[in-house]
Formats: sequence, structure tokens, C-alpha cells
Amino acid sequence: MKKVFIIGANGFVGGYLIKEYIDSGYEVIAGDTSDSFRYDYDVKYEKINILDKENIARILNQYKPEYLINLAAISSVGLSWKMPEQTINVNCIGTINILECIKENLPECKILLIGSSEEYVQKDTPLKETDVLDANNPYGISKIAR
Ligand SMILES: NC(=O)c1ccc[n+]([C@@H]2O[C@H](COP(=O)([O-])OP(=O)(O)OC[C@H]3O[C@@H](n4cnc5c(N)ncnc54)[C@H](O)[C@@H]3O)[C@@H](O)[C@H]2O)c1
Repeated sequence: MKKVFIIGANGFVGGYLIKEYIDSGYEVIAGDTSDSFRYDYDVKYEKINILDKENIARILNQYKPEYLINLAAISSVGLSWKMPEQTINVNCIGTINILECIKENLPECKILLIGSSEEYVQKDTPLKETDVLDANNPYGISKIAR
């Protein structure tokens, strides 16, 4: 059974994504900063903080997942104005920590990072990843910077 490790699992997207992976036959390991998992799925849960490289490395080496999805973020524009430093730390430094830990410990692991429409010039038609980048808030800037 393929293993996927989902960080930021207690958030809005985590609740849906974990179900998709379970239904598709994956073993899911969920991680977030809280002591416990908030969703009612039968998966392993680990307390993890992506600002702590040793914590990430220990858990990666324990489970050795084939896939890692990073949902962990300060994930709203409003919050990013209230906590700009924390937004850059979690969204940028946290992402770098994960990438460094994967490179050092589990180089075969495939990683998915999540972007945002806030990275781009807003328009009425659907956005493409090739569109011009132009964030005007700390959240969008942190997503471009990763
Ligand atoms: N929900 C959306 O509509 C949407 C749209 C575009 C992009 N995204 C992106 O998708 C991802 C998931 O979004 P969401 O709506 O589930 O966000 P969310 O805010 O609901 O969940 C984020 C989770 O990350 C966790 N987290 C925060 N700091 C952490 C840290 N230091 N270490 C570990 N975990 C930490 C939080 O505890 C939370 O459970 C985010 O990267 C977000 O920017 C979401």
C-alpha cells in the first residue's frame, strides 16, 4: 500500500483530501500542530510543526512515505495582514524546511505544494500558472516566494 503523509491535515482541505486518499487505497499519515486529529478517519496522526526541522525529519524517517502533501499554511489574506512574519515563516521557511528534510532523508519522496490564485493578477477568466505574478498581500507574496 502506498503511503502519503499529509501535513496541515486538520485544516479545511485536509478533511476532503484525506478521504480521497483513503478511498483510493492509500495509507494516510496525517500531521498538524494540534495534539489530536480533528477528523473522524481511521488514520495515523502525528503532531508536527514545519518550523521544526528535527521534528519533520524524525517523522519522515519513522514512516518513509512515498508522497508528501503540504497543506500547512497561514492560509488567509486577512490573517496574513495580522501576522505577516508568521505567514512568511510558516509558508516560506516551513516549506523550505520540508524540502530540505526530504532532500536529506527521503529523496525519492514526491512532494505536492499548494499555490493560490492570490499569487496572480486577478481577472475574470480562469487563471493559468503561466499568468503574470502580482500579489498585493503577505499571503500571496508568501505563496509566490515558496
Ligand atoms: N481553502 C482554499 O480555498 C484554498 C485555496 C487556495 C489555496 N489553498 C491552500 O491550500 C492549503 C490548505 O488550505 P486550507 O484551507 O486547508 O487551510 P487551513 O488554514 O484550513 O489549514 C491549514 C492547516 O495548517 C496547519 N498549520 C499551520 N501552521 C503549521 C505549522 N507550523 N506546522 C504544521 N501545520 C501547520 C494549521 O493548524 C491548519 O490545520 C494551504 O496551503 C492554502 O494556502 C487553500
